[in-house]
Amino acid sequence: MKFVGSSLCRSPIVFGLALLGLGTVFLRAQDKPVPPPAQLLPVAEPTPPYLDTNQPIETRVEDLLGRMTLEEKISQVHADSKFSTAAIPRLGVPCRWIDDGPHGVREDVGPYNWRSAGHTDDFATSMPSLCALASTWNLDLATAYGNVIGQESRKRDKDIILAPIVDIARTPLSGRIYEYFGEDPFLNSRMGLNYIEGVQSNDVAACVKHFAGNNQENGRGIINMNMDERTLREIYLPPFEAAVKEARVWAVMGAYTKFRGEHCAYSDYLINKILNGEWGFQGLVMSDWSATYSTREAVFGGLDLEMGTLITGTERERPYEDYYLANPFMEGIRNGDYPVSLLDDKVRRNLRVMFATHVFDARKPGSLNTPEHQATAQRIAEESMVLLKNNDNTLPLDATKIKSVAVIGENAVRHNAAGFFGAGVKTMHEITPLEGIVELVGSNMNVTYSVGYSKQGTDSNMVERAVTAAHQADAAIIVAGLNHSRYLDDEGWDRTNLTLPYGQGDLIQKVIRANSRTVVVLIGGPAIEMDPWLARAPAVLQAWYPGMEGGRALARILFGNVNPSGKLTVTYPKQLMESPAHALGTYPGTNGTLFYKEGLLVGYRWFDTEDIEPEFPFGFGLSYTTFEYSNLKLLPGQNTNGPVVTAQFDLANTGSRAGAEVAELYIHQDNPGLTRPLKELKGFKKVFLKPGEKKTVSIPLDERAFAFYDPSQNGWVSEAGDFEILLGSSSRDIRLQDTFHLEQTTVEK
Ligand code: BGC
Repeated sequence: MKFVGSSLCRSPIVFGLALLGLGTVFLRAQDKPVPPPAQLLPVAEPTPPYLDTNQPIETRVEDLLGRMTLEEKISQVHADSKFSTAAIPRLGVPCRWIDDGPHGVREDVGPYNWRSAGHTDDFATSMPSLCALASTWNLDLATAYGNVIGQESRKRDKDIILAPIVDIARTPLSGRIYEYFGEDPFLNSRMGLNYIEGVQSNDVAACVKHFAGNNQENGRGIINMNMDERTLREIYLPPFEAAVKEARVWAVMGAYTKFRGEHCAYSDYLINKILNGEWGFQGLVMSDWSATYSTREAVFGGLDLEMGTLITGTERERPYEDYYLANPFMEGIRNGDYPVSLLDDKVRRNLRVMFATHVFDARKPGSLNTPEHQATAQRIAEESMVLLKNNDNTLPLDATKIKSVAVIGENAVRHNAAGFFGAGVKTMHEITPLEGIVELVGSNMNVTYSVGYSKQGTDSNMVERAVTAAHQADAAIIVAGLNHSRYLDDEGWDRTNLTLPYGQGDLIQKVIRANSRTVVVLIGGPAIEMDPWLARAPAVLQAWYPGMEGGRALARILFGNVNPSGKLTVTYPKQLMESPAHALGTYPGTNGTLFYKEGLLVGYRWFDTEDIEPEFPFGFGLSYTTFEYSNLKLLPGQNTNGPVVTAQFDLANTGSRAGAEVAELYIHQDNPGLTRPLKELKGFKKVFLKPGEKKTVSIPLDERAFAFYDPSQNGWVSEAGDFEILLGSSSRDIRLQDTFHLEQTTVEK
C-alpha cells in the first residue's frame, strides 16, 4: 500500500470532470475512482478551457485560476505533507509530488518526518554523484543523466524533482561538495543546462537549487552571505541564469542562507528583481525545507511555494495549515494586509508548472530501474574517474601477468549510494569495488580482501593483515576515502579538515612500502590533502561516489578495459589553508555573516592569479594514452546571434590505446578595464579518438565569453581589445595559444 500524503490526497483524486466526460484527466496509480461530488459542474458544460490541450498554457492557467476559491488558491502555495501539495478534487487538480534529488529519485519518506515510508516500490537507479558527472566533461552524459532522473520520476509519480544543484564549490570543506558540479560557473552552467533539459523532456519539472549560494553547510540556516555585485553576477549567478534563460527550468529553490540580510527564499533582490525581473522567470520559487520565517516577507519577497517539515517539539512546530503561506496568508488577504494579486501571481506560477509538465494531460509514462538506466550510470562512472597519478604505467594492471591482487579498505565493500539525506538513493543493488574486481578478474586471479581501516576504529591488527596481504600479492588496491558519515560528505556538516580519516594515511604508506605496485583509489567528493603519502604512491585514481554500477566501472578502469578520461572540476590544494576562503580567513564567517572576500578569485582563478602551485589543478586528469594539439586557427564569426569567433584546432591520439581528451578553452584579456582573473574557462569539448586518429575540433565563443560584469553599467561588457585564447589539457597545461582582437565594445544589459 502506497502512502498518500494529505487528507485531500488521501481521498482519491477522482476528477468528476473526467467522469462526466468533460475532459481527459489522468489518474495517478494510487488513486481509485469514487463517485463525483454533487456540486460538480453540470453534465452538459463543454470542456473547460483549462482542460483543453489545444489552448495555450496562459489561457489554461487563467481559466483555472478564475475558477478557484481563495482557500483553493492558498492550498497551492504551501506543502500539505513533507513532499506534496494538496489536490483540489472539485476542479480535478491532483496533488503534486515532489522529491529529491540529484543522484536518483529518493525513497519515499514521511509524510510528516524524514523517516522511510517503508514502501517496497520506491527503488531507483543510483547514479554517480554530480561531482562525478561534471568530471566527465561530457554534456551528452549530462543530458542522459537528466533523462534517467526524468523517466524514473515519472514512473514514480513525481511532478517536481529537486535537482540539479548548481552551487559553486567555494570551499573544499563543504559537506555537500560531492553534490556540486565544481568551482567553475561556466562548467556548472553547461552541466546544469543539459541535466535540466534531460529531466524536463519527460514531463517533470526540474528544480534548480540553491538560489543563490549555499556554499557551505556550516551555519547554513543562519548565515548571511555578502559579496560584491560583480562576484554575484560572474561566479554565483551564471548557472542559475543559464537554467532560466536557456534550459527554461520550471522551478527554483531558495537557499537556506540569507543574502545581504534577506532570506534567499524570499529575497526581493534575488527573486523579484533578478530572477523574475531581469531574467523573466515564469515558473515557481519554492523554499528549502522549513526555510521560511515570515508571512509578510515571503508574500512580498517572491516565494511561491512554502515547503518544509513539521518540526515537533520546537517553537517552530506547526501543522501545514499554519505554514506562513497557509492560514496566516489567507487571513492577511481577508484583512486587507496583502493584495490578492500577489496570491494570484504565486498560484499562476504553480499552475504554469503543472500545465508545462502536462499534469492534466496525457503524460509520458516513464520507466524505472531499467538495464538502460543502469548502463547509463555505469558509462558515466567510467567517464568520470580521474587518474591523478600513474608512475611508470602502474595502471592499467595487466590481468594476463598479475596472478594475485590484494584489495584493501572499508570502502571496497561499503555501500555508499544510500547516504545521505536528499542525495541518497534506495537502489536495487550496488556493485562495490571488491565485487566489481572479482566479477572482472576473479576467475583467473587470486583476489584477497582485508579491511585495513574502519569507521568503527582502526587497530594495528587490521593494518598488519592488510600489509601482509599486500606483501604477498602481485598488486595492491587500497580503496580509501570518505563515506557520508558526519563531517565526511554529509548534508548539514562541513568537513573539519582535508585529511583522510581513520588512519588511512598511515595505512596507505605502509601498504605502498609492502608492495611497489600499489594503486590508491579515492571514494568521496573533492578534495583531500595527500601529503605525505602522495609522493610515494605509484598510482592514484579519484573515483567519486560512482553509483550503483560503480564497482564495475572502477574494475574496468583498473584493468584497462576502459581508458580514464575524467578531469577535475575542483582545484586540489596542497593544503586547505592555501585555498581562497581559508587563506583569507573568511570561512565559516563571523557573527553570522560571511563575506566573500576572495571575490572573483574562487578555485583556479585564485591559484592562478596568486601564483600558488596546487596539488592538482582544475581540469587535470591523466589518460592511458597521449594527445597532441596542433594547428590552432581563430575563425571570425558573423556576430549576428552566432559566435564572435571559433577556435579550430587538430587533436590527435598519439598513443596506442583508444581514449578521450577534454580540450579546455580559457581566455585571458590583455589590459581589461576592470581587473580580471588570469584565466577563465569559456569552452570545452570531449573528443574520442582511436589510436593514431586525428580530428579537427571547433569551440565557438559568443559575445558573453569575452565579457565581465560592470556594476557601474549594470551590464555585461565585452571590451574591444586583445584576448589570449588558451587551449589546454588542464588549466595549467596550455598547449596552444593565439591572440584574438575584439573589434567593438558592447554592453549587454
Ligand atoms: C536540502 C535540499 C533538499 C530538501 C528536501 C534540504 O535539507 O537542502 O537540497 O532538496 O532538504 O529534502
